[in-house]
Amino acid sequence: MMNVAIMGYGTIGSGVAEILEANKDAIRQAAGQELSLRYVLDLRDLSGSPVEDEQIHDFSIIEGDPEVDLVVETMGGLNPAYPFVKACLLAGKHVVTSNKALVAAHGTELLRIAREKQVNFFFEASVGGGIPIIRTLYRCLRGEQLEEIAGILNGTTNFILTKMDKEGWSFADALKEAQRLGYAEKDPTADVEGYDTCRKIAILLAMATGKETDYQKIHTEGITKITDTDFKYAARLGMSIKLVGSGKIGADGRVGAYVLPLLIEKADPLYTVSDVLNAVVVRGNMLGTTMYHGSGAGKLPTASAVVADLIEAAQESGRNVSLGWTGEEQQFKPFEEETFRYMVRLGGSLERRRKELEAMEAFPIQKWVLPDGADAGEGFAVLTGPMTEGDFARAAASLSDILAVVRGKA
Ligand code: HSE
Repeated sequence: MMNVAIMGYGTIGSGVAEILEANKDAIRQAAGQELSLRYVLDLRDLSGSPVEDEQIHDFSIIEGDPEVDLVVETMGGLNPAYPFVKACLLAGKHVVTSNKALVAAHGTELLRIAREKQVNFFFEASVGGGIPIIRTLYRCLRGEQLEEIAGILNGTTNFILTKMDKEGWSFADALKEAQRLGYAEKDPTADVEGYDTCRKIAILLAMATGKETDYQKIHTEGITKITDTDFKYAARLGMSIKLVGSGKIGADGRVGAYVLPLLIEKADPLYTVSDVLNAVVVRGNMLGTTMYHGSGAGKLPTASAVVADLIEAAQESGRNVSLGWTGEEQQFKPFEEETFRYMVRLGGSLERRRKELEAMEAFPIQKWVLPDGADAGEGFAVLTGPMTEGDFARAAASLSDILAVVRGKA
């Protein structure tokens, strides 16, 4: 039997306790022994909950109990998650976390300590919720040179954008519903400003390249500026808008990475990824392209990934599984060198703007998108051909009355 401690009995932590009980037999069989819940650390009083007998308030009980082998961190945030996780690894305990902020900020150090102590630091649930993407990278795609990883990595924003696109909901109503359903981070700024996606794509790129990937160097924009009018124009182009995290690993070893709301064409496999679902597209040099699709947030899907990590930690007890990255620093391609197509919504007189734009050699126009009669007053839009970010910024600087810009894949 191995004893488990859960730190943080919120949405995910309570899901882990629930699955350990509900799937007890299957888990015992898979792990080769029983995984028994010994402690649940939480500041709140959990009397009346299913874990009232396991509840503790003092972290040092977990750290000091040599019979606790497996620790789950589902507190979120960095403090006290970081010092607690570090102390558990130093005490020779396996740690499983769902906390992408922790992995993105301190993964290099925590992985190193786990190697030194011959324990494991697993974080499947930190990216893509219940989608098994981390394990896929370090087990199934080991023989590949990975060239690209991209995807819809945040359930909350995908839920919001889907409601705005398909059902005409307001941003605020959709966010409220995502929070009610337990998808959103405690502070939803991390979701809607793209910070959560940024940390997740950084973790995936670190896994794909074996190098420390500083999420702060990834160009990140969220969805707060996207409006229903942008969706209307995107629909006229046969497209939707999704928040995408993307990383391309160049032949020179540099990575081009960004987090952006992007126009997505109907033929793109990401087009049908709706609601809270996430999808990760991975391109390998031998394998070609594969896509992994499933529940990207929510209590039980995410907790299921945590439990799978607990089982692997139990199976591999006494041995550090080789995964992750070292302190070698990831080199990035500057964002100005990225190429996109741009949907530019413009105000002013159509005739004047046509003349102005068509006279600009540096502004390759692919398509004009005119408003329906009912939408008069919302201007019109053009879709450009492929341009680098730097070229677009220079061309856009000479244009007045730009109402909105949404990028699309080149
Ligand atoms: N807030 C995150 C999301 C939770 O919406 O995807 C899962 O990481």
